[in-house]
Order: sequence, then C-alpha cells, then structure tokens
Amino acid sequence: MITLQANVERLATAYRSSCILFGAIELGLLEEIINQKGPVAITDLAGTLNLDPHKVQTLVHCLIQMELLKQAKNGKVELILKEGDLPGHSFGQGVLNYKHEFEEWINLAEQVKAPPVQSREDEVFNSEQITAYLEMVKLSNFDRAKEVADLLTREIGPIDTVLDIGGGHGLYTQRLLEQNSKACACILDLPAAIGYAESTLNEQVKSRTKLIKNDARAHNTREDFDLTMINDLLHSFSAEEKFLIIQNGVRATKLGGWICIGKYQMDADHPENQDNNLFFSLKMILNSKNGYLESNQEVIEMLEKCGVGSISIKIIKSSIPSVVILGRVEERK
Ligand SMILES: C[S@@+](CC[C@H](N)C(=O)[O-])C[C@H]1O[C@@H](n2cnc3c(N)ncnc32)[C@H](O)[C@@H]1O
Repeated sequence: MITLQANVERLATAYRSSCILFGAIELGLLEEIINQKGPVAITDLAGTLNLDPHKVQTLVHCLIQMELLKQAKNGKVELILKEGDLPGHSFGQGVLNYKHEFEEWINLAEQVKAPPVQSREDEVFNSEQITAYLEMVKLSNFDRAKEVADLLTREIGPIDTVLDIGGGHGLYTQRLLEQNSKACACILDLPAAIGYAESTLNEQVKSRTKLIKNDARAHNTREDFDLTMINDLLHSFSAEEKFLIIQNGVRATKLGGWICIGKYQMDADHPENQDNNLFFSLKMILNSKNGYLESNQEVIEMLEKCGVGSISIKIIKSSIPSVVILGRVEERK
C-alpha cells in the first residue's frame, strides 16, 4: 500500500502531467507525431522541431509513461490513439483551453472564500474565446454525442423537431439530424456560440437548423418541439437559474414531447459513487458565479415541478461518466 508521504507527494505534483501535455502541444511535438501518420524516430522529431534531442527524448518518454504515445522495438514512437479517432484538427487548441483555467485552480482557496464578480465563464461565453472552448467541448463529447443520439432514437423513436438549448458546437443536433432524415432543429445559445455554429456547422446540418441567439434563462420559445435537449448547461448556474432553464425548455416542448437533460454523473443518494464528478463540480464553482454540478435527484425534482413525468435516468458509458435524464411533458406549468 502507498504510504501517506508518497501519496501526498503524488498528489502535490500531479500538475506535472498537465504541464507535460501542454508543453508537448505548444512545442508542436504532438502535432508533428500526428502529421507523420506512422512511427517516427525521436531524433527526427527533434531535428524537424529544431530542439535538443535529449530534451525531446525525456519529454517523449514522459508521454509514453502517460499512455499517450507508444514506442516500437526499433525506438520509433507514435500516438496510441489512431489518427482517425481525433475529431478534426483542433486537438491542440481544444486541449490548451484547459491551461487557461489553471489560474482559477491555483487560487482555489481564494476563489472559494470570495467568488469573483466576473467569472471565467462570463468571459469565455461572451468573447472570441468561445472558439477554443467549444473546440474543447466538442472534442471531449465526440463519442458521447453519438451515444446520446442513439439512446434518444431508441427510447423515443423518430422525431420531426428538436430544440438544442445551449447547443453550442451543434454536435448533438448533427447526430440527431443524421438519424432523423426529415427532422429540423433549433440551436439556442448566446451570440458568441451561435457565431461559432454559423461558421463551423456543415451545410447539411445548417440547411435544416435554425440558429437562435438568446439566453436559456430568458427565452420564450414556443414552437412545440418533439424533443428539447439541455446538455451540459445547467452546471453553470445557481439552483434558481437551473430551474428557469428547465421551465423554459419544458414550455418550448409539445405536450407528450420529450425533454432530455444530459449531464455528468452526480448521484446524491450514493455519495460513495466513484463516478460522481466532484472535480467537475469544483471546476464550476471556480469558473462560474454560482454554478455547481447538480445532482440527478435535483434535476428530477425540477422536472416534476414543471409537469414532466415518466422520468428515467440513463447511464452514458462514454469516457466521462455521465447520464441522460429523460422525461415526457405531461403538462406545462
Ligand atoms: C459546456 S457547453 C455545452 C455544449 C453542448 N450542449 C454539449 O453538451 O456539448 C455550454 C454551452 O452553453 C452555452 N451557454 C452558456 N450560458 C448560456 C445561456 N445563458 N443561455 C444559452 N446558452 C448558454 C455556451 O455558450 C455553450 O455553448
């Protein structure tokens, strides 16, 4: 068993792994390995990047230990992940977004004592920083969006209309439109994210999707959607604001239609559940004014208050443990 001292040292230096990853991206090392499309010698890497081969070797060996790279018997290295698994070419930019959050984490004690008047999220959601942010979110939800869309199709069958509140990068909408060839969608998000969607959604999705610039807490959309999705949005807000967002989502959905809340796992009845994403909840406490990761039970209670019934929790198995809370709009309160 690991000693207390060893455990404390391991925890106190865990940040080194993040720094190695950021450094490898900023040096162009990972991009170069991706571009090689096959195993590459460390000396060739160092030569191309004009870097000291010994330093590159140590960095590469760290990345091997961190299970990002693998080394063949001839010493050449390549990514463990196949290139086709990487969605687009935004890998580095998306990951570096985490580096920008470092300031909040390193000042955790101060932030917990006195939350900032202006949060990181306020800044990101209302500026050009939204691009790097949504690249990161899209990357991290690449498999999950497909799994959620498959689940929704299985559970609720074909749909004609879908509203994606806080839909941002549009991946969830895209997956659902792929599975419902006649359906149309609306993505409702803040202006910066809608700008991102306008410039990145492919033509097939765009031609069937209305983009609405609005605030999830304040919109008055009444288009009787078959399905309304609110994925990874509620965690940015206080309990009162979460309720408003759910209530507006329910009011936009037709009677008998479906509401889907996608979120990371937080099961209040089982605090010992290792899948409960406490680190993420802490991230939201640091990055937003009043946000935290709501529990499944809180969401269910809010949905019920808004007139939603037949509520079930579905576990999503993709890399970050998450759930979909799905219910049917029985009345609109
Ligand atoms: C974590 S991302 C989630 C994107 C997508 N729904 C997903 O699950 O991958 C949060 C999204 O919510 C949007 N958002 C934040 N505050 C909002 C608000 N008040 N009204 C509408 N959208 C908001 C952001 O612009 C961003 O697109």
